[in-house]
Amino acid sequence: MTHDVQSFKQVLQASLGDTIDTAIILGSGIRAFENLFDGGQLPYQALSEFPAATVAGHAGVLSWGRPASDEPAIFVARGRFHLYEGHGLVDTLRLVEFFFALGVTKLIITNAAGGLRADWRPGDLMLIEDQLNFQGLQAGLSQTFSPVTPFDGAWVERLVKRCQTRGLPLRQGTYVGLLGPSYETMAENHFLIFAGADAVGMSTVPEVARACSHGMRVLGISCITNVSVTPKGAAETSHQEVVDVAKAASELMEQVLFEAIHAA
Ligand code: HPA
Repeated sequence: MTHDVQSFKQVLQASLGDTIDTAIILGSGIRAFENLFDGGQLPYQALSEFPAATVAGHAGVLSWGRPASDEPAIFVARGRFHLYEGHGLVDTLRLVEFFFALGVTKLIITNAAGGLRADWRPGDLMLIEDQLNFQGLQAGLSQTFSPVTPFDGAWVERLVKRCQTRGLPLRQGTYVGLLGPSYETMAENHFLIFAGADAVGMSTVPEVARACSHGMRVLGISCITNVSVTPKGAAETSHQEVVDVAKAASELMEQVLFEAIHAA
């Protein structure tokens, strides 16, 4: 059986007896909140019209529950759909639309990204301050969306303070979304740096745009899995390396995500 929004609401009501206003989308290899209380989980295939998650490091499971027994429940989407998998924009945005229909108002989007700063290290986390859309016009999405500040500045500020207080290292910068699926050439990396990007990935931009045009508050966090530009030039990378580093950085990511929920 597959669930549409209405029947899924009944599943939620039965398992939790509560509504949920916060959702997290986990990018390649990122693991967090694997043990949620009072919750449940469903594979994406059990949600009507959802495609299967095909990319390695994307479990393709939607979980919900409380991060701790006295915390409000959250959604955690383990894996996403990318334009480079051959999906159109509609399928790429299934998660965002589903969360919006369920009443989610706060969306935290994570991804694995290549660092464009020579002094950054694999495993660093970057809070996304702004984004560059290099995924084409289709990611523009809505004429009513005026994307001057797609990320919630006050939320960003509060999270930065909380992470400083707790000694959690967090970089800040601009994310550029490319279509992929190949990684960038050295010339492309230099161009992206010139364009103002600090991290490069293949997701996030359309999700952020659509969530904003729905009036959701949005926060974005990149896990820097590889540093694409070194003092000597460009560095080669592979998807396996991306997934392995993201997995290794997951403990810090979960701590930062926990702070992010509380900073909302
Ligand atoms: N480029 C694009 N996407 C990525 C990278 C990269 O270097 N690393 C992880 N996702």
